[in-house]
Amino acid sequence: MANASGFSTPSVSSLRRKLQPSIGVPQSGFCFPEGIFRRVVRSSGVEVAGTHVSPSQSRVPKLVSKGCKLVGCGSAVPSLSVSNDDLAKIVDTSDEWISVRTGIRNRRVISGKESLRNLAVEAARKALKMADVEPDDLDLILMCTSTPEDIFGDAPKVQRELGCTKSQLAHDITAACSGFVLGLFSASCYIRGGGLRNVLVIGADVISRFVDWADRGTCILFGDAAGAVVVQACDAEEDGLLSFDLHSDGEGARHLGVPINDNEINDRLGSNGSVLEFPPKRSTYACIQMNGKEVFRFAVQCVPQSIESALEKADLKASDVDWLLLHQANQRIIDAVATRLEFPPEKVISNLANYGNTSAASIPLALDEAIRSGKVKPGHTIVASGFGAGLTWGSAIIRWG
Ligand code: ACO
Repeated sequence: MANASGFSTPSVSSLRRKLQPSIGVPQSGFCFPEGIFRRVVRSSGVEVAGTHVSPSQSRVPKLVSKGCKLVGCGSAVPSLSVSNDDLAKIVDTSDEWISVRTGIRNRRVISGKESLRNLAVEAARKALKMADVEPDDLDLILMCTSTPEDIFGDAPKVQRELGCTKSQLAHDITAACSGFVLGLFSASCYIRGGGLRNVLVIGADVISRFVDWADRGTCILFGDAAGAVVVQACDAEEDGLLSFDLHSDGEGARHLGVPINDNEINDRLGSNGSVLEFPPKRSTYACIQMNGKEVFRFAVQCVPQSIESALEKADLKASDVDWLLLHQANQRIIDAVATRLEFPPEKVISNLANYGNTSAASIPLALDEAIRSGKVKPGHTIVASGFGAGLTWGSAIIRWG
């Protein structure tokens, strides 16, 4: 369902209709009203409601309820801090323009030997330490990034650098600034449906490599960082991932992207579309292209709808939630969403002033800071919402600890 602007979140009732579960399997949509499923497979058969049946009686594993919770977090940022005044030396801008329009004052940018993978590994190690989980106790690593150092994916290299020796699965998730929320959802599915125990979710991006540092409309916004959490299987009563609401809209992709350079593709096609050249030239990507006003409009419209939908699925009201944690893109977006949902400023987490928009890292970085500073305490409920390129957007209701 799309409105005239092309940006809309389906209503909760229409989502429910779409997400009616099929018989006997967990619904494939984004919400698990009864929680939460566990596949119980015994060596000689399958456990069904306390009885033991032979494989010939049932080849479909029984799924029973199970929870998953966040048990550790960590983050890492590059050492080089770039202020608005520093940017004013390379583009026609000012500290006043940037801070008034965005709330950003500084950002971190990689330099020297720093890399996306270094940041991801540092954040992951801190999360593992807090969770008291060894690298080899991980069942899965999800690397949420849109700026991989290897286009085929960075997760297995992060796995190797962490010292995992058991060939556990590790793979990337690409969904820009919504990547971390999608990573949390994927972790919950792997745990609830796949029987995994410990999943490391990393949100990391080095957007500075894809920014046109001569474009004042975009270069002022972004910074580099990584954040990570360990999601662990637990009993249903302890469940800490209470609901999700996830969306994408390829129609809006024209407003924000890092596309492959079009002129290189067109150069190789004749007027009738025939291929003029083989083998193809090596492709390159453009810098970030963004229609800031449209992205702003999309965010303030879709994010509150998504949060309301996630709250309804969790059977919570905004006033029941302790913290609002949005993707850190623009303070005016954060303020507009908070006002619309009637979150008072003291319940809004923001570290945008120090780091700018760090894409998939922004939510876990802000969460890690809020937890380590003692602001977010065990048992607190957080609504986290990511939005950005794709377009993609989504919300998660999380209980910490
Ligand atoms: N310094 C000074 N002037 C500037 C700058 C700058 N850095 N950038 C633009 N301007 C000028 C423009 O040229 C324009 O001048 P004009 O009126 O003479 O033409 C004027 O300021 C207004 O420009 P707008 O683009 O209309 O400014 P706006 O108020 O929309 O703010 C901004 C721009 C900050 C980018 C805002 O639109 C925004 O934050 N949008 C959301 C972006 C976002 O959240 N992206 C997240 C996705 S990230 C991801 O998924 C990877």
